[in-house]
Amino acid sequence: METNKLLASVLVAGIIAMMAGFIAKELTETPPLAKDAYTIAAPTQATAVATAVKLLPFKDYMAKADAAKGAQTAQVCGSCHVFTKGGGNGIGPNLFGVVGSKLADVAGYAFSDAMKAKGGSWTPERLNDWLTDPQKFVPGTKMTFTGLPDPQDRADVIKYLQSLK
Ligand code: HEC
Repeated sequence: METNKLLASVLVAGIIAMMAGFIAKELTETPPLAKDAYTIAAPTQATAVATAVKLLPFKDYMAKADAAKGAQTAQVCGSCHVFTKGGGNGIGPNLFGVVGSKLADVAGYAFSDAMKAKGGSWTPERLNDWLTDPQKFVPGTKMTFTGLPDPQDRADVIKYLQSLK
């Protein structure tokens, strides 16, 4: 008799626990979403910078560009480029007088086919596009440098390149 009571109470306790668990689950479960609530696009470096700082037109950066600062920034180019007249080519072509010159037109330098095919000349605007993302401006270029993300840095460097005469 005592054993039966004990068994019965264990059984009842078990049933209550099961019911409680079932009810709790019913109350807390949410139906699965048909699609992701957020779609996350991976931004490129350039767009991340563009959204972080409000971009001004290129000429506004050029208007306050500083050639001396540009010379400082252009030190990163120095591992591949020489800036002095008659200084020869490095891993990249000599950059003396590049502003206004034709693309891929430096004596003694073997440009990539991609660069030779691009055509036109180096206006400050085109240099700005090039230095923003070289691989985007000339897909297949052999310049492995990934670009200068800051628009003022680019304008400063272009001002410096213009000052080389
Ligand atoms: C890792 C080496 C490397 C670095 C760093 C580098 N470049 Fe270059 N650059 C090259 C190479 C290589 C080419 C030739 C590209 C081709 O033929 O596709 C080139 C080409 C160029 C050209 C085209 C020249 C012409 O006559 O058509 C310009 C302009 C230029 N680089 C500017 C810069 C500037 C400015 C910097 C620094 C902000 C820089 N590069 C940093 C390797 C580099």
